[in-house]
Amino acid sequence: MIIRQATGNDGDAIASLLSKSFLEDTSIIRVSIENNPRYSISNMFVIEEKGTGGGILGCLRITPFEVYSRGVRMPMAGIAAVAVQPEARRRGIADNLMEDALRKMYDMDFPISMLFPFKHRFYKKYGYAHVGNMMSYELAPSDIIPFPERSGVRAFGKSDRNRVKRMLEQDVQSRGSFTPLRNDAFWDLVVLPKFKDAYVYDDGEAKGYLTFELYKEPAAAPGAFSEPVVNVKEFVGLNAAAHRGFWGFLSALGEQVAKVRFLGPGDYPLHLFVKEPREKDYRRLFFEYKSFSTVAPGFMLRVINVRDAISRLRHNIETPSDIVIRVTDGDLPQNSRHLNIHVHNGETVVDDTRLPAQFESDIEVFSQVYSGFLRPSDAVKYGFASGDPSIIHRLDELFSAPSPFIYQFDIF
Ligand SMILES: CC(C)(COP(=O)(O)OP(=O)(O)OC[C@H]1O[C@@H](n2cnc3c(N)ncnc32)[C@H](O)[C@@H]1OP(=O)(O)O)[C@@H](O)C(=O)NCCC(=O)NCCS
Repeated sequence: MIIRQATGNDGDAIASLLSKSFLEDTSIIRVSIENNPRYSISNMFVIEEKGTGGGILGCLRITPFEVYSRGVRMPMAGIAAVAVQPEARRRGIADNLMEDALRKMYDMDFPISMLFPFKHRFYKKYGYAHVGNMMSYELAPSDIIPFPERSGVRAFGKSDRNRVKRMLEQDVQSRGSFTPLRNDAFWDLVVLPKFKDAYVYDDGEAKGYLTFELYKEPAAAPGAFSEPVVNVKEFVGLNAAAHRGFWGFLSALGEQVAKVRFLGPGDYPLHLFVKEPREKDYRRLFFEYKSFSTVAPGFMLRVINVRDAISRLRHNIETPSDIVIRVTDGDLPQNSRHLNIHVHNGETVVDDTRLPAQFESDIEVFSQVYSGFLRPSDAVKYGFASGDPSIIHRLDELFSAPSPFIYQFDIF
């Protein structure tokens, strides 16, 4: 079997394979492959039987992104469009493609990779780990505090387009956690055409924007009332007044809509903006002191180059600190080595060492630690890593980060 970079001649075959695999119309897929503002056909890799001319058996795409994490910009390889012909499945073809993609991403100097999985256990085998704990909230507008700052909210107009682009960039730079940046073409072709119900928070200067879909939910039973819902697609607030203004604005939609849906990072303090915390589909008259929750599948991240990824951490620690770690990585053995992490005054220097490791884990657990999703001390506490108790709090500090978050329009 050979794996090669796709060319323009492969367009039809790839579109047909993706259409069979993701149940979407071939012509729509064809257009999205050819006119995509984020990637081109040369980002696709295809696998075929050597010399048989039997056609493409499988494909995947490595899309180059730039993300911000802890205020630092870094390249990220997004894996998507992993597909194998139905008649060729369960013969190790996707396995071949994934192993090859890991080596390619390492050679292309990507420190990390991310993906949206169809199943977590499929990608866990390749070192990817669950890190995207996004929360989908549902609120009654009457439970939201009617902040007076809502008077600063006005309708979005064409002249706000550039300012909106800059606001997202500023937001991603300052508080993004593995959050992708957006290029101009993606904004213009994909995102802005969807700004139908869109608003800006403006108190002399635009400090935030909000865009949502307004629709009627399908009725629960024939003849039943179908409830109007606001589904927030993107909410960016650069200051406190913008957040308060938008929540106040959403509370004021109560006459028209029954529910507000909002997808936020796991650590967004939404409780600050509600006057009455309530369970979803609240019906009880008496006390309920818990929230019904589940471990929902989120996006996954894998560290591709451990040394490079760690050296991108910036910490203003004045007293120099050294910690030795060892990560084991069966797919990329280059990562399996003892590394000394030296942190001092905003610099992180990572070198090989012969000293014994003070923290050890496999690449999957390390990917969760690196993303800030799993504290090193918890990895040790629950038996997923081993660590020297005297240094573990320093690792907790080194890897702490806000909840990883990707805006809905950027899901790939
Ligand atoms: C998912 C898909 C790409 C797998 O391709 P494949 O060539 O059959 O996979 P492989 O034979 O290489 O299997 C690799 C490993 O994954 C496992 N696996 C394969 N399909 C799986 C599935 N649907 N669920 C869980 N594990 C699966 C295999 O058991 C094997 O694991 P093992 O080595 O421990 O035995 C293929 O089923 C497909 O194209 N599905 C439709 C499109 C899709 O959902 N793509 C994923 C997008 S995120």
